[in-house]
Amino acid sequence: MVGKICGTGSYAPHRVMDNHDLAKIVETSDEWIRERTGIGKRHIIEEETTSYMAGQAALRAVEQSGIDPAEIELIILATSSSETVFPCAACEVQKTIGAVHAAGYDMNAACTGFVLAFNTAQAYISAGICKTVMVIGADSMSNLVDWTDRSTCILFGDGAGAVILRAEEGMPVHMAAHSDGVKGPALTELSRHRKDWDKENDSESYIHMDGQAVFKFAVRKVPEIIEEVLDQAGMRLDEVDHFVLHQANRRIIEAVAKRLKTDISKFPMNLEEYANTSAATVPILLDELNRKDVLKRGEKVMLSGFGAGLTWAACLFEW
Ligand code: UT7
Repeated sequence: MVGKICGTGSYAPHRVMDNHDLAKIVETSDEWIRERTGIGKRHIIEEETTSYMAGQAALRAVEQSGIDPAEIELIILATSSSETVFPCAACEVQKTIGAVHAAGYDMNAACTGFVLAFNTAQAYISAGICKTVMVIGADSMSNLVDWTDRSTCILFGDGAGAVILRAEEGMPVHMAAHSDGVKGPALTELSRHRKDWDKENDSESYIHMDGQAVFKFAVRKVPEIIEEVLDQAGMRLDEVDHFVLHQANRRIIEAVAKRLKTDISKFPMNLEEYANTSAATVPILLDELNRKDVLKRGEKVMLSGFGAGLTWAACLFEW
């Protein structure tokens, strides 16, 4: 058995901050941000929380799938910015959608989180443990960025996306995942370690990033893991119809496409609208493609996420 997507949903806050708005806060410009990243705007939470956004995305996925929420056996929620350490955000979602029989837990692997959660859900399904699993990616990056640091605050946004997987017969799902803890310092957010009296380390409670190191890592490792998954599947690159990658930077996606000698039209992007919503980028994009009917039954989809840890993962499945 494999997990087939039977419903998707997403949520983005109503408040929109475009590059011109950012240029009023830090020394930057619409031109610089668009040219270096492809980002045009980002949605930023006001009253919303990570679990609220996740719940809204989940409700939309349930509505689209037509399933009874009581059928969901497991909710895996990828986030690194839940408003509470516990209870976990997955349990909040369970309450919101009335998934009374579901177990739920959160997973944190930053921007790679959704793909790892998706792989975990597929493993539960192929092992025969669950038939119906909800996978969510949700992040409130605006709570984690230093709004005085122009090298990072321009990159991120807030949002959530959800998919529901149901056990069916079908093409086996192929997956891979890796981590490199030695390179962890390239991208950090240490707020959970900050004590209120530890004012000296105040700046550590925001995202710190060596942008170029993360850029190089992504451009090298994403093509590698895609090739690894294809080898496992015994498939060729040209048999993949859509490469749905973590939306961090348009130039990263273009460089990956170039390295794989694959036309960029197979790499959908939406970071112009949402920026980098960390664990939420892949499911928001999946929801958009699904609702626009871009993804056709039987097509092969490759997901890949990468980010802090450093971590990277990929998954190949049939739509
Ligand atoms: O989910 C994974 C998370 N992270 C990523 O994927 C990030 C990967 N890295 C990147 O996307 C890119 O490295 C950035 C977009 C972060 C930076 O782009 P870059 O082309 O690597 O620029 P840079 O860091 O080399 O900076 C070039 C110049 C510098 O000025 P000088 O030293 O050349 O005078 C920066 O100070 O651009 C300056 N700069 C800016 N200028 C205007 C940095 N940020 C800005 C800004 N506006 N927002």
